[in-house]
Amino acid sequence: MKHDIFPIDHFESETTPFYYYDLHLLDKTLDTITECSAFPGFHVHYAVKANANPELLRRIAASGLGADTVSIGEIHAAITAGFPAPKIVFAGVGKTDDEITQALQAEIGCFNAESLPEIEAIEKIASELGKTAPVALRVNPEIDAHTHHYITTGLAENKFGIALSTLDSVIDRCLKSEWIEFKGFHFHIGSQIEDLEPYRILCRRINELQDKYPDLVIPTINVGGGLGIDYDDPDGHPIPDFKSYFEVFRDNLRLRPGQQLHFELGRSVVGQCGSLICRVVYVKEGVGKKFIILDGGMTALIRPALYQAHHKIENITSASPIMERYDVVGPICESSDTFGTEETLPLTSRGDLIALRSAGAYGETMASGYNCRPLPGSAYSR
Ligand code: LLP
Repeated sequence: MKHDIFPIDHFESETTPFYYYDLHLLDKTLDTITECSAFPGFHVHYAVKANANPELLRRIAASGLGADTVSIGEIHAAITAGFPAPKIVFAGVGKTDDEITQALQAEIGCFNAESLPEIEAIEKIASELGKTAPVALRVNPEIDAHTHHYITTGLAENKFGIALSTLDSVIDRCLKSEWIEFKGFHFHIGSQIEDLEPYRILCRRINELQDKYPDLVIPTINVGGGLGIDYDDPDGHPIPDFKSYFEVFRDNLRLRPGQQLHFELGRSVVGQCGSLICRVVYVKEGVGKKFIILDGGMTALIRPALYQAHHKIENITSASPIMERYDVVGPICESSDTFGTEETLPLTSRGDLIALRSAGAYGETMASGYNCRPLPGSAYSR
């Protein structure tokens, strides 16, 4: 059964495993984001951590989005891809002195600071360089985003953000500093959020917080990212419901006159345009089970092993009408190196190509060299 979204003839010359990116879908997704976020003061940043592939980054930069980064490496990748420095924000709980120095020299748009010691470090380095550091404070809004516990970030127990109870003194510290320009508040409640209700709650929390500080000038509110994608039905929902997502903020957030609203979307921008393509090395008869053993595993795509995530599995070369049940596994010496159990697939043989769908986000960027395996390559739609 040939799959019409994959140029299989071109795949024969590629070394598996590799990531295949549908650039037409990426462009359509970017156009949809631009259309749906066209409200006054709304600005979308792309969370580079989701995928830093240079070809993707270049297209995303060209579409006009800003960049959300978490390391100096991501800042360099963003600048190289064409994101203007003032449209780059820099988050993360562990920014080093060297990263702060380089980010200040690059004149990025904003540091999203996560603790008092970090603010002190930024202030010291800014004073030494004679530069004013634009700083927003990441506030932990204590909201349960009902997603996997490894990717929820807005709960009180998480390492992220500044606790509401200490916020007053941290704001004071920023306002008193001649080297810090207070830019506003930053929030992020988690990732792969499929139900929009946590975002409505976030809007209410932000409204309450703004009401608490009627005299404070708050130029920017940053609501982070987290919008989920449909891993079960990538062809049915190739583009997430950005319209409803952005309308939640338009309808529920009380922005002040002239206030800017920033978003940091990663997965929803690139998730559906990527697939990991692997070759079947062996089909093995187990005890009451058949295994499809692929040449790519958790070193190429770690999400199933790390978060019990399921990516839709398709045999894109078998033309057989016979359906069989298989466990689909990688070649790595770890039991968690399993992409799916009891998967119904057409009769599969050694040499077939298998696509793991919806792997455009947190796939290539999280690949590792464990077992001295080479990193997966990439190929693109024409
Ligand atoms: N902003 C901040 C501060 C973040 O920590 C993140 C993601 C984002 C934005 C982008 O979130 P997105 O729109 O992509 O959900 N590796 C995990 C996901 C980790 C997300 C970390 N933070 C996975 O594969 O599911």
